[in-house]
Amino acid sequence: MTDDQAAREEQLTADVLASFANTPDPRLRQILESLTRHLHGFLRETRLSEDEWRAGIDFLTRAGHITDDRRQEFVLLSDVLGASMQTIAINNEAYADATEATVLGPFFVEGAPEIEQGGDLSFGAKGQPCYVTGTVRDTSGDPVPGAAIEVWECDEDGFYDVQYADGDRTAARGRLTADANGEFRFWALTPVPYPIPHDGPVGALLAASERSPMRAPHLHFLVSASGKRTLITHIFVAGEELERGDAVFGVKRSLIREFEQQPAGSTPPDGRDLRGQSWSKVRFDIVLAPAGV
Ligand code: BEZ
Ligand code: FE
Repeated sequence: MTDDQAAREEQLTADVLASFANTPDPRLRQILESLTRHLHGFLRETRLSEDEWRAGIDFLTRAGHITDDRRQEFVLLSDVLGASMQTIAINNEAYADATEATVLGPFFVEGAPEIEQGGDLSFGAKGQPCYVTGTVRDTSGDPVPGAAIEVWECDEDGFYDVQYADGDRTAARGRLTADANGEFRFWALTPVPYPIPHDGPVGALLAASERSPMRAPHLHFLVSASGKRTLITHIFVAGEELERGDAVFGVKRSLIREFEQQPAGSTPPDGRDLRGQSWSKVRFDIVLAPAGV
């Protein structure tokens, strides 16, 4: 590239930066200026062609058209680019032995049904029963009685309740409260791998880069308590499905758990009659960071 050409390109970047110089909100100014520097850097580094620019605009347009109240293609795009997990890492700094956070995903629903300690949140969703026990503690090791615990997952066919066309089914989700010792126990389903929605532009991007749309099998948790940092996380099933990777980079080593398979006909700790089905059990001890760290 000639010096003249480089000077032209640099001048354009400088002009755009200058156009934001009077932005009254200093944080907004910082973000717009950094975005300008990185975006222009990307265009110049890749020497983006006009056809490629049009393909990019078309991609974003398709993402907009497929997005509605139930489908958020831009969040999905952020997820597969690792931008969601990077934002989570920046905003949930490691603190003592606090449990690590991971992606919320698109399938959390406010107001899930409340279950008792020991209750079953499958509400008829198909899958292998899984007995989940654990505690909620703070970083000093003290129990957090009354912590609110929300749990959700897909069924054995890999679908969340909200993905079924029949509209208003509620299954494989629930909320409960940690007891006076910070303990909890409930029945869920043994998690299975499932694909993120991949029939739109994000799916096309994954296919073009020979990436899998599969998520490692997991159980979602959202745990909150007064004075504590709200924790959004999952536990992942140790094993070969996990080794195949995760489309949204959500796996953290500290969140991998053994879901111990139990033989058909064996009796679970609460004596529940499982009608000869096999089942699994898992333990998840949760540590909440203080709020504001
Ligand atoms: C999920 O785990 O529910 C999920 C997360 C990110 C993208 C799609 C699904
Ligand atoms: Fe999920």
